Amino acid sequence: MRIGILTSGGDAPGLNIALYSFIRLVEKRHEVFAVFHGWEGFIDGTVRRVTSLDLLPYISMGGTMLKTSRRNVFNDGDADRLIKAINDYNLDCVVAIGGDGSLRASNEAIKLGINVIHIPKTIDNDVFGTDFTIGFDSAVNAAVSVSESFRTTLMSHERVGVVEVMGREAGWVALHTGLATMADATIIPEYKLSLSSVIDRLINTYKTKHYALLVVAEGVEVKGDIVTAGQSPHSNNVGYRLAELIEEVTGIETRAIAPGHSIRGVAPTAFDRTLAIKYATAAYEAIENGLYNVMVSYRGSKIDYVPIPEVAGRSRLVSGEWLKLYELYWG
Ligand code: F6P
Repeated sequence: MRIGILTSGGDAPGLNIALYSFIRLVEKRHEVFAVFHGWEGFIDGTVRRVTSLDLLPYISMGGTMLKTSRRNVFNDGDADRLIKAINDYNLDCVVAIGGDGSLRASNEAIKLGINVIHIPKTIDNDVFGTDFTIGFDSAVNAAVSVSESFRTTLMSHERVGVVEVMGREAGWVALHTGLATMADATIIPEYKLSLSSVIDRLINTYKTKHYALLVVAEGVEVKGDIVTAGQSPHSNNVGYRLAELIEEVTGIETRAIAPGHSIRGVAPTAFDRTLAIKYATAAYEAIENGLYNVMVSYRGSKIDYVPIPEVAGRSRLVSGEWLKLYELYWG
C-alpha cells in the first residue's frame, strides 16, 4: 500500500515520535509518503518518501519535522486539486495527526472519498472522543515548571502572581496546572465566578502565606465582576488584565506572566511519548485490518477507535468529575 502521513494545526510535543513509530511499523510492508505543511502539502507538491531513520534524530524534540499549517484547503476551493494530487500519488490512505480543527478537515477528506485515519494531538486536550491528546501532558508539565519558578519570586517579594496559560475555549491546561501547583485560585472558561470572590480568596491566602498564585485559562474574559468564557478563542491578555484589577482592589503588588507558545514547544514527556507510540500502533493496526475513517482514542486507559464523523466539529470541555474537582478547590 501507499500511505500518506501529515501533521496539521498547531504543533504539539510528541508529534515527531508519533511519526517515527508509525513509519517504523508500516515501512516494513508499505511505502510511506510524508506530506509537508499539512493537507496543503498535497496542493503544493511537498510530498516525499520518508523512512523511520529520517525521523529518529527528532523523537525527543517538540514541534513537527513535517511542518504544519492551519490553512483549511477544504474551504478554500482547493478540494479538486487535493483529490487530483492524492490520486496522482496513488495513495491508499492518509494518516492525519491533528487537533479538533484538523479533525474537521479529516472529515471533509472522508466526504471526498479519501481513506483517513486521525491521530488526536493538541496541547489544549479538547478533542472530543478521547481523554488525552498528544502534547497535553508536556504542555502542562511545562506550565507547572514555569508557575513554580514564578512562585519562588512571588514568595521572596510577597506578591500576588497570575499565570495565563493557553488552551483556547477549554480550561484543561489551566485546571491541571492549578491542581499540580495547588494554586490559590484557578479560573477556567467552563466555570463562571465573580471576580470579587476570586480576589477574596487571594486576600485570605495572602494573609497567612504572604504571597498568592492564580492560574487563568486564556479563554477567560472579565465582564464587570464576572469572570467567564470569553468571546475570542485566543488570548486577550486576561492574565495581565486580572493582575491590574487585583492590584487595584487589594493594593498588593501583583505580577502576571503568560508563557504562551513556550509551553507548546517543549520536549515531549514520557507520557506523551508513550501515548504517541500507542496511537501510532493503533493507526498501523487499523490499516492492517482495513479499518478507515476512524480516530484513534484513549478512553478509560484503553486504546479504541471512534468514527471521525461522530467526533468532528465537537469539542471536549472540562466537565464531569474534573469539573467537580475544580469546584471543590476553587468554586
Ligand atoms: O490549539 C493550540 C494553541 O496553542 C491554543 O492553545 C492557542 O490558543 C493557539 O494554539 C495559538 O495559536 P497560534 O499558534 O496560531 O498562535
